Amino acid sequence: MGNCSGRPAKCAHASSNNFPESRNPRGGTKSMDDSGLGSSRQQKTLAGPESNSFRNIGVASSLAPSTTLKSFSLSELKNATRNFRSDNLIGEGGFGFVFKGWVDGNTLGPSRPDSKMVVAIKKLKTGGFQGHKEWLAELNYLGQLQHENLVKLIGYCAESENRLLVYEFMPKGSLENHLFRKGVEPISWATRMSIAVGIARGLSFLHSLDANVIFRDLKPSNILLDSDFSVKLSDFGLARDGPTGDKTHISTQVVGTRGYAAPEYVATGRLTPKSDVYSFGVVLLELLTGKRALDDDRPGYLDEGLVDWAKPFLSESRKVFRIMDTRLGGQYSKKGAQSAAAIALQCLDWDQKYRPAMSEVLAMLEQLTHTAKRPSSVPPTPPPHTHPPPHHPSANSSTVELLS
Ligand SMILES: Nc1ncnc2c1ncn2[C@@H]1O[C@H](COP(=O)(O)OP(=O)(O)OP(=O)(O)O)[C@@H](O)[C@H]1O
Ligand SMILES: [Mg+2]
Repeated sequence: MGNCSGRPAKCAHASSNNFPESRNPRGGTKSMDDSGLGSSRQQKTLAGPESNSFRNIGVASSLAPSTTLKSFSLSELKNATRNFRSDNLIGEGGFGFVFKGWVDGNTLGPSRPDSKMVVAIKKLKTGGFQGHKEWLAELNYLGQLQHENLVKLIGYCAESENRLLVYEFMPKGSLENHLFRKGVEPISWATRMSIAVGIARGLSFLHSLDANVIFRDLKPSNILLDSDFSVKLSDFGLARDGPTGDKTHISTQVVGTRGYAAPEYVATGRLTPKSDVYSFGVVLLELLTGKRALDDDRPGYLDEGLVDWAKPFLSESRKVFRIMDTRLGGQYSKKGAQSAAAIALQCLDWDQKYRPAMSEVLAMLEQLTHTAKRPSSVPPTPPPHTHPPPHHPSANSSTVELLS
């Protein structure tokens, strides 16, 4: 399967060799499974490429359609971004570019000087079916779900081949920029832990819905930060309704991002909410260590991937300090770090049935952060593993094997 040798990149199962794919500018590929959220049901209900009405767009199973999204014309969004000028470009992903723009806060039309509202406008590269599917999935989910830890979708544009999405603007950008970009002031331990709580809260909310929504692409670039560093999850293009009852999903094509996708999902296509729990464990580890899950741009950098490199240090609480981000300058609660490391270790269990539910992760993290505010008391230690530590082959090298 395509070149997955870039930085953490979208990945697809080795057996999925017959599907449309789109090049990720960072060297990876991204693909949708045929039974994914943008399923035939949705495409059947889409009135056609010129459709400009949300009513014509199918919705994910048990979620109610939104009536609050604004349908923008392309010219409105051109005006909002000064014709998508390059100095308004704030990000680029596998499927498109993100621009800063200004619309009228009252009418949501192009702005007048007195009523400016800043927005982020994602413009998908034109012509790709994949991009359209992701656009539709994003519209379906974010158009209907509202939560303090999910980014707010304001509107959309579907004109000719053009597909755009308009979001609330997140002034601090993504967690990726704050954790890994050179020259950016390091984020404090307390902020890292409150970010972890925010992510866990967002995922717990998704998993608690009747539709049992699985986010499927948790990684720092999809974790946006408001001016006070509060978390908003973004990018529901790969999200899908989860299994209900004792059913499980088997995807014929595995999608997600290498380094973050759960090993059983990559190996078998079996998707459950515990796949998100694994990805959360990877992000928590990144918050602790300040290291990327994978960084193929730097040959020799953690060859085995962050998870396999860090696991031996996580399982012995005295060793945890050896892997902590040096940019914290030692300014963190030792017991808090040990507890967070123990939570990460549970989330990263090779066997998904031993991973805690996202609601349990949230409860442990909340207890940890509340305790940290009362320095005299002892932070909680999560329950120990109830099974012997298994010896596993590397999750990331398995991923690479499957993809090569
Ligand atoms: N609402 C927003 N407010 C501010 N910045 C945003 C917003 N949405 C996206 N961005 C910025 O744009 C970047 C690119 O986002 P995008 O989702 O297109 O790609 P990505 O997450 O980096 O990669 P991928 O295609 O794998 O999802 C983000 O990392 C973030 O820095
Ligand atoms: Mg993204």
